[in-house]
Amino acid sequence: MSSDKAMSSEKKDIFSGHKKLERNITLMAVFSFLVVTIGGIVEIAPLFWIDNTIEKVAGVRPYTPLEQAGRDIFVREGCYTCHSQMIRPFRDEVERYGHYSLAAESMYDHPFQWGSKRTGPDLARVGKRYSDEWHVQHLTDPRAVVPESIMPPYAFLKARDLKVGDAPADLTALSYVGVPYTKDQIAKANEDLVGQADPFNAGDVAKRYPKAQVRDFDGDPSRLTEMDALVAYLQVLGTMVDVNAVKAQEDLAKEKGR
Ligand code: HEC
Repeated sequence: MSSDKAMSSEKKDIFSGHKKLERNITLMAVFSFLVVTIGGIVEIAPLFWIDNTIEKVAGVRPYTPLEQAGRDIFVREGCYTCHSQMIRPFRDEVERYGHYSLAAESMYDHPFQWGSKRTGPDLARVGKRYSDEWHVQHLTDPRAVVPESIMPPYAFLKARDLKVGDAPADLTALSYVGVPYTKDQIAKANEDLVGQADPFNAGDVAKRYPKAQVRDFDGDPSRLTEMDALVAYLQVLGTMVDVNAVKAQEDLAKEKGR
């Protein structure tokens, strides 16, 4: 073993120590356990002393009853099987979809819509990117606006009345899992559900939910449909946080770090 001979004696000592460790299964198990325990404690212990792992971001609020109803339709129809709502912090994603998603932006999502399965584009920042008319037309017949689209049509949503009546129960259930709906918001949930799509009779929906978009969404003000709810939901996605302000803050921090 000529290479062994060439090795300095100091180096050899380290190797023989490690050899012992590797060949004694009990010793190996004890040391492995020790290493994993230290790593585990370092990761887990801080969680016992902080209330929240999500950094607060200005602008994030719980969904309005109408947006939440739209969200339930999104989940019911399986839109998530083709669309994620999570922009990753990579250049290609940020250039295509906008600022990468922040944890706070999905803190009130139950269930969350993260994922890596994308047959269609990510929808995390699709809000306000298209008009309501575009969404209605696209959902009614995707190929009418995007000829090469393989998305299925959802025209029936415009013909189905949105079920009103369950909104307080929905918000109550969400409040049990940590969405901070107030008593007032829960009590007025049915009123707000209808009001957000009826600008002439909106009540206090925009007061209870800052920056809520109040208007008829499906192009038919005479009735409240599932299309109204789904479009209201799509139009709020990614619009709660002022990402330009977040970006300016990040740039400033980078500048200071230099
Ligand atoms: C079979 C996969 C599939 C399903 C299911 C699906 N989509 Fe799509 N979606 C696509 C594809 C592909 C595109 C890109 C082409 C286009 O714009 O039609 C797309 C595009 C979109 C866009 C435009 C995004 C953008 O940035 O241009 C929206 C909004 C959208 N889908 C919403 C929905 C909603 C809401 C549902 C459920 C009701 C849904 N999709 C279900 C495949 C799907």
